[in-house]
Amino acid sequence: MRYALIGCGRIAKNHVAAAINNHLNIVGLCDIISENAQRYQAANQLDCPVYTDYRQMLKENKPDFVAIATESGKHAAIALDCIKAGVNVLIEKPIALSVADAQAILDAAKAAGVTVGVCHQNRFNKAVQKLRQAFDEGRFGPIYNVSAVIRWNRDEGYYKQAPWRGTWEQDGGCLMNQCIHNIDLLRWFGGEVSSVFGVTNNFCHPYIQGEDFGTAIIRFANGASGTLEGTVNVYPRNMEETLTIFGERGTAKLGGHSVNTILEWSFADKKDNLESVQREFTEDPPDIYGFGHTPLYADFITAITEKRKPYVTAEDGKSAMEMVLAIYQSSKEKMETALPLRDCSSLDFTGLFGR
Ligand SMILES: NC(=O)c1ccc[n+]([C@@H]2O[C@H](COP(=O)([O-])OP(=O)(O)OC[C@H]3O[C@@H](n4cnc5c(N)ncnc54)[C@H](O)[C@@H]3O)[C@@H](O)[C@H]2O)c1
Repeated sequence: MRYALIGCGRIAKNHVAAAINNHLNIVGLCDIISENAQRYQAANQLDCPVYTDYRQMLKENKPDFVAIATESGKHAAIALDCIKAGVNVLIEKPIALSVADAQAILDAAKAAGVTVGVCHQNRFNKAVQKLRQAFDEGRFGPIYNVSAVIRWNRDEGYYKQAPWRGTWEQDGGCLMNQCIHNIDLLRWFGGEVSSVFGVTNNFCHPYIQGEDFGTAIIRFANGASGTLEGTVNVYPRNMEETLTIFGERGTAKLGGHSVNTILEWSFADKKDNLESVQREFTEDPPDIYGFGHTPLYADFITAITEKRKPYVTAEDGKSAMEMVLAIYQSSKEKMETALPLRDCSSLDFTGLFGR
C-alpha cells in the first residue's frame, strides 16, 4: 500500500515508525520546512522523495493512504484535499477545531467512499484493551460513573518549541491538545454525551491563549455520569493519566503516565484479579505517546483493504472534539451545555483568557 506523511514534526516519529512496522511502501514525506522531512528520510534511510507541497505529492505520487500530522488547525483543509483526491486519510488528533470542519470531513469521506480515521492511539494500550474487553463482556453491570484525570506538566519551553501550540486558531488549550485522548476514552466507555458543565481557566501560562486547566461534569445519554479533570499545571512534572469505571458489579482503574497500567481491578465474577491483569497488561513506553500508533496503523490498513470502518472512526474523532468545544462553551457561558452542538469553533473562544 502506497503511503505518504504530511507534517514531519515531533509526532511524525511515531508515524514513520508505524508505517515501517506495518511494511507500508513510503512514497513521500511532506513538510513545508523541507529539512523536517529530510531528517526523517535520512534517519530511516528512505528513498522516497521529499515534498514541500502536499498537493504536488498527491498528484505525482498517488498514495493510497496519507497520514496528516500538521498543526491541528490545518487538519481539516488538508484532509478535505486528500479525500477529494480519493485518498484514505488518517488524521492526528484532534480531527479538526470546529464542528463544521469535522462534519465536512465526514461528509466528504462518505461522498468519496474513502476511509478516514483519527489517531486516538491510546485505545490500543494493552490495559485499555483489557478494560474494553471487560466492558464488552458486561462484567461491570450497569455503569454509574466514569472518571478521567490528566495531571501533566507543560512548561514554557514546551510551548516555545512551536508557536502554534496553545493558540485558538491552531490548537486550543490543554483539553483539546493533551487531554483529548482520555476524553475520547471517557466517551468511548460512557457512551453518547447529552450535556456537560465545564469550568476552564488559564492559571499560569500567560504565553498561551487557551486553558491550562479544565474540569467538567458530564451527563451521558444512558443516565451514567462522568467527571473530567485535565491540567498541564502540575509542579514539577507529569503525574498521571487515569481512567476509572464504577459499575454495579465492577470497579477498574487504569493509570500510570498515560493509562498504560491497571491500578484497580475488582469484579463480582472474580474471573481474574489485579495481580494477574497488572502483570499481563502493563506497558512501560518511553514517552506518553505510547506504543499505539503501530496497532492503530495495522487496523487502519485492514479497514481500507476490507472496506470496513476503522477501530477509531472519524465520527469518534468528531465526538471527542465536540465534547471539548462543549466544555469550552459551558465554561464561557457558565451554563450546562447540551450536545450535539449546532456549530462551534475553537475561534469562538478568542480572548477568553484575555489573549
Ligand atoms: N497522537 C498523539 O499522541 C500526538 C502527540 C503529539 C502531537 N499530536 C498531534 O499531531 C499534530 C502535530 O503535532 P507536533 O507536536 O508533531 O507538531 P510540530 O509542530 O512538531 O509538527 C508539525 C509539522 O507540520 C508541518 N506543516 C505545517 N503545515 C504543513 C503543510 N501545509 N504541509 C506539510 N507540512 C506542514 C510543520 O512544518 C511541522 O514540521 C498536532 O495536531 C498534535 O495535536 C498527536
